[in-house]
Amino acid sequence: MLAKLKEVLNEARKNEYAVAAFNTPNLEMIRAAIRAAEDLDVPVILQHAEGHDNLISLEEIGPIMIDYAKRSRVPVVVHLDHGKSIEAIRKAIEIGFTSVMIDASDCDFETNVEKTKEVVKLAHSHDVSVEAELGHVFTSSLGGGEGREPDDDLVGKTDDIYTDPILAKKFVEETNVDCLAIAFGTVHGIYLKEPNLDLRRIKDIYEVTNVPLVMHGGSGLNEVDYLEAIRNGITKINYYTYANRAGAAVIKRNIKTPKLFFEDYVSIATQGIKENYIQALKIFTQQKRK
Ligand code: 13P
Repeated sequence: MLAKLKEVLNEARKNEYAVAAFNTPNLEMIRAAIRAAEDLDVPVILQHAEGHDNLISLEEIGPIMIDYAKRSRVPVVVHLDHGKSIEAIRKAIEIGFTSVMIDASDCDFETNVEKTKEVVKLAHSHDVSVEAELGHVFTSSLGGGEGREPDDDLVGKTDDIYTDPILAKKFVEETNVDCLAIAFGTVHGIYLKEPNLDLRRIKDIYEVTNVPLVMHGGSGLNEVDYLEAIRNGITKINYYTYANRAGAAVIKRNIKTPKLFFEDYVSIATQGIKENYIQALKIFTQQKRK
């Protein structure tokens, strides 16, 4: 069933688990995500990043995401990821998305607040939830494609980049957002070295904001880090690159026994992606399934 972000995240927070938000810029990823969530009987978020319009437009994939959500046995939120323009946000709401992100994190604090307030006003009047971002989540040089340059040497610079708890409190109070994406060391795309996460910062931010927190760059971490991040307040985990890579890996493994038809590759890649999703969901929802 098509679900609201706020309700799904509040339920998860109460029970100390996290909801996976899978970017699905093709039909195969939508099907893999829904099947994985149904197998485990857990809620899931399907999301389309405005930056993925080069793969498929919001107008093309959006109605398909909504259709699959409505026909699913589990709660499925349909969310716009990294909404940069008010036009994309309006379009997502028109199509029937139940949640949108306004990403003005590259603006100064005041502009971020102003843009987020405008989106909250519009979205809440349609009963649609809003995610915003404060701080800077970088993009690895291997994939991600969401905009910012990687920075290998963050030593001594994290205070400018990672989310500040005091500013986060002010931001949430002024904007009334439903959840907040924060920066604490994760990176979009493939990790080129072991990430060094500031997990304590999540707790500090959660204690003063009291809204569900969102991890971007959420694929590719180890189980211990996921579980501590969730314990500390992360409730939505954006997950894309490592599932995408798992689909490609299955095709590569099968290249020595070539298949005759395109559909065979589609089918094995979808299965590989689904298995990757299941592994992630099992960790994220460990507390729910105990
Ligand atoms: P990854 O592609 O690194 O998993 O991050 C996904 C994401 O943050 C989408 O907003």
